[in-house]
Amino acid sequence: MKDLINKKILFIICGGVAAYKSLETIRLFKKNNAEIKTILTKSAKEFVTPLSVTSLSQGKVYDDLFNVENEMEMDHIALSRWADVIIIAPATANTISKLSQGSSEDLASTVVLASNKQVFLVPAMNVRMWEHKSTKDNIQKLSTYGYKLIGPTIGNMACGEFGEGKMSDPSEIFDEISNYLSNQVKNKRIKALVTAGPTNEYIDPVRFITNKSSGKQGYEIAKSLLKRGFDTTLISGPTNLHIDESINLIKVETAEEMFKETQKNLPTDIAIFSAAVADFKIDQKSQNKIKKQENFTINLEKNIDILNFVSNHNSMRPRLVIGFAAETENLDENATSKLSKKNCDWIIANDVSKKDSGFNSDYNEVTIFYKNSQNKKETLSLKKKSEISEEIVDRIVAQIN
Ligand code: CTP
Repeated sequence: MKDLINKKILFIICGGVAAYKSLETIRLFKKNNAEIKTILTKSAKEFVTPLSVTSLSQGKVYDDLFNVENEMEMDHIALSRWADVIIIAPATANTISKLSQGSSEDLASTVVLASNKQVFLVPAMNVRMWEHKSTKDNIQKLSTYGYKLIGPTIGNMACGEFGEGKMSDPSEIFDEISNYLSNQVKNKRIKALVTAGPTNEYIDPVRFITNKSSGKQGYEIAKSLLKRGFDTTLISGPTNLHIDESINLIKVETAEEMFKETQKNLPTDIAIFSAAVADFKIDQKSQNKIKKQENFTINLEKNIDILNFVSNHNSMRPRLVIGFAAETENLDENATSKLSKKNCDWIIANDVSKKDSGFNSDYNEVTIFYKNSQNKKETLSLKKKSEISEEIVDRIVAQIN
């Protein structure tokens, strides 16, 4: 028995023969003290009744987007914020298609679209529908948005056919979600620090030297850590990216500010240095705007290496220190040398000379170099930065636990 006291689950039941399995799944969560609210889509009501769902869940059942009474009590945005996790079971081909289009035509799709929580899809449909290229494409698209899949399994279907498309068993759904929720609780006690974005090094009050970093990969990593429950701090150089307000976001501009804020946020258990910190700052920043002149020379001075400082800290070295290496040549050689020179546990390296990935792109391909592992390196192939960050955080969770 798992104690899911105070854990809030939003169930979305779609219309399918497998909907009866959702009732059993709700019963399992209720038995383990979870708090449950449910949304029934219009067609779900052909298979299960609001009364049976509310009796089992002992929680509110919603079925209409523009119901004045419901909206007054808890509007659809509040409902999406209320949940710790959202489970769509059974997830029909139609709902999967709607979600992949970002539809908001009913309460279920609107709440999912507005959600910042982990969404689990538990598909159930005929084998041909599941194997159809359009369903496969929709699932692929949803996984790039961070949705997680449970099942489907292979077996005899209600329609008489045999194959993949059966909804997973309630016990399997329960195990997967309750593990996710218990890890979230465990992770709340673990501090993670992420640096992201470029830094600006001022020449005078209006001019500065910077670099092409967008900060996207670092923000995605911070989002993935936050979703898994880690107590996450993001120290960000100047970017135009947005992130959930529940994160501890510290905005800085220069490498010196980033260094000061990093120091203030030690100790931490995990430190991920994805920022493209300027290696140099201007030796003598002019207090006034520099006037036009024939020749102008600026002297550069080395910035402190924040990663190096943290990874060699004698009393506050985090349990896991991860550095990044942006390279245009000799990736393996440079990354391996940074791994030891910077005393990191991992270096995540990418080739920034490639046009379809790296700086400013939504896509990335990275190779992780490990210090203490039998697999010395591992490549995460080209995919969205949001997916790369999920894969990186999967590995962080495995390592830290
Ligand atoms: N880094 C840092 N502080 C700096 C410079 C870099 O924390 N002043 C961190 C970056 O966030 C990254 C790693 O160090 O995690 C690698 O930075 P990079 O600039 O690629 O490597 P360098 O050691 O500066 O080597 P080079 O620029 O010569 O490749």
